[in-house]
Amino acid sequence: MKITVLTLFPEMFAPLFSSITGRAVEAGKIEIDIVNIRDFADNKHFKCDDYPFGGGAGMVMMPQPIGSAIEAVDPEHKAHRIYLSPKGETLRQDKVFQLLQYGHIVLLCGHYEGVDQRVIDLYIDEEVSIGDYVLTGGELPAMVVCDCVARYVDGVIAQGSLVDESFANGALEYPQYTRPAEYKGLKVPEVLLSGDHKKIDDWRRAESERLTRTRRPDLKQ
Ligand code: ADE
Repeated sequence: MKITVLTLFPEMFAPLFSSITGRAVEAGKIEIDIVNIRDFADNKHFKCDDYPFGGGAGMVMMPQPIGSAIEAVDPEHKAHRIYLSPKGETLRQDKVFQLLQYGHIVLLCGHYEGVDQRVIDLYIDEEVSIGDYVLTGGELPAMVVCDCVARYVDGVIAQGSLVDESFANGALEYPQYTRPAEYKGLKVPEVLLSGDHKKIDDWRRAESERLTRTRRPDLKQ
């Protein structure tokens, strides 16, 4: 799986290259290319934004640098091209599984007031939002997409960790405990120390159902 990120702020992506995603990149399990849109501007000052036609606050990212960048990284439109935008479909776990089917994803990050609409009309396959709030740009959302896709790429995370986690079965995960068995007067539930795996599984399933029912009744069970 390859992810190409198009951004005016490549330095914002440093965190992706540490921890689990960083190790996955180093091991060659996933390729993440960060591409600076400014490198494709065909004007003398590498200008990439301008005032909006019709007036209004802020600046809009110009179509030429973005169009040229997309044509350079995906000349035959073989990749799935996503524009991160609060106007897009909200990212959920099922969408993450969908995205995993693509061999190559291009993530376009807007900044300021966004990108010229013609870039979306000409080049973009879908818009994706990470939630109903507005961020200063698409960089953090692009990192969110990279992270949650990368962790499902084969060999990045142990299979067992992915099976029980929240949303994996349309439910929230049960609570986890580790040593010590008592901390500040709070004891680990007895059943988890029992060694009886059937009882432990039953307790975890019940806790998962209880949490989902009370916190996220909108999730189907
Ligand atoms: N850009 C700004 N806000 C965003 C959001 N919530 N999701 C995706 N891209 C964005």
